[in-house]
Amino acid sequence: MKAIEFKKDIYWVGTIDWSLRSFHGYQTGRGATYNAYLILDDKITLIDTTKKGFEPELLERISSVIDPAKIDYIVSSHVEPDHSGGIPFMARHCPNAAIITSLPNGLKGLKGHYGDLNYQGVKAGDSLSIGKRTLQFVTTPMLHWPDSMVTYCPEEKILFSNDAFGQHFASTGRFDDENDLPTVLWEAKKYYANILMLYGKQAQTALSALGGLDIEMIATGHGVSWRSHIPDILACYKKWSNYEVEDRAVVVFDSMWHSTELMAGAIVEAFREKGIPAAYYDLKANELSDIMTDILTSKYLAVGSPTINNQMMPTVAAFLCYLKGLAPKNHLAFAFGSYGWGGQSIGLVEDELKAAGCEICLDKIRVANVPTKEALKEITEKIKAM
Ligand code: FEO
Repeated sequence: MKAIEFKKDIYWVGTIDWSLRSFHGYQTGRGATYNAYLILDDKITLIDTTKKGFEPELLERISSVIDPAKIDYIVSSHVEPDHSGGIPFMARHCPNAAIITSLPNGLKGLKGHYGDLNYQGVKAGDSLSIGKRTLQFVTTPMLHWPDSMVTYCPEEKILFSNDAFGQHFASTGRFDDENDLPTVLWEAKKYYANILMLYGKQAQTALSALGGLDIEMIATGHGVSWRSHIPDILACYKKWSNYEVEDRAVVVFDSMWHSTELMAGAIVEAFREKGIPAAYYDLKANELSDIMTDILTSKYLAVGSPTINNQMMPTVAAFLCYLKGLAPKNHLAFAFGSYGWGGQSIGLVEDELKAAGCEICLDKIRVANVPTKEALKEITEKIKAM
């Protein structure tokens, strides 16, 4: 496995996790990559490493260009183990390398994970001359860990962005223009929705900090890098971090005996009749990470559950827990569901929607037993009048 030259003397030396299907619960249907970059200058520098278990691939790609023992610096942009897991291995193969990390949180995090190694802390705005090139460190705290930072090289106009602008997307094409753009943008949106959504304010701060930089290439920490569609991905991040929503509805539910399912169908149809596109997500057949991707930019959210053991269904509870954690903004929501007796689930769903930060736009819709044609028509009329 060989290094891939991005610019003269700057190489991608990352690793590809083709078969990954779950990144701590985030469903990665297209696999993942853990990107690392090698810069050959007076001081040879490696930006990031890889996930534990992928170190031999990283070492092989580096060795296709230089002897890894010659590396002077290893920049650790982010302590999360998908980027830093290979640090102890690389420290053994690069005995002279200083490990550059942000102060104070990168240093604290790396020590907590890997013990004492040859660390060198940097602060926001610090620069490091590596010869013909300079590395400028821009800290991006809580995007999405306290230690997160990106590195800008002004001589090359490259931003090494780590998690920002990345996607979980395994491919042989390393750049945006070597892949299907709508697919890459969808995966970037999925990444943002599931990893970064709750940090919109921090994302806006980071975008402002990067706003003055002349960027010709964004070398990401995951998936493909950007060189032909930089304005597109920056515009997407501006929109997503500003929580901008479109006139679109997402209907999420689970059902025991098809009654709540019939209500979900009527709700989707009612939105369609209103001229609002609506998506139908049965939790038995859809992944939370895909649903969150759609919710990110949809104004309306309807969540349904029948009542079981005086509660909502556990699948719906899991969805609402995930939604609440990602702290969505600017959504109008309502609860619906069927019941045999009691019917507590619908109120509980509404409470959780409020707790997640949604504004309730329609009183909860409850139907006993099986909805009749008249009951479904009534649901349609309520939503059309909403
Ligand atoms: Fe790709 Fe937050 O690690």
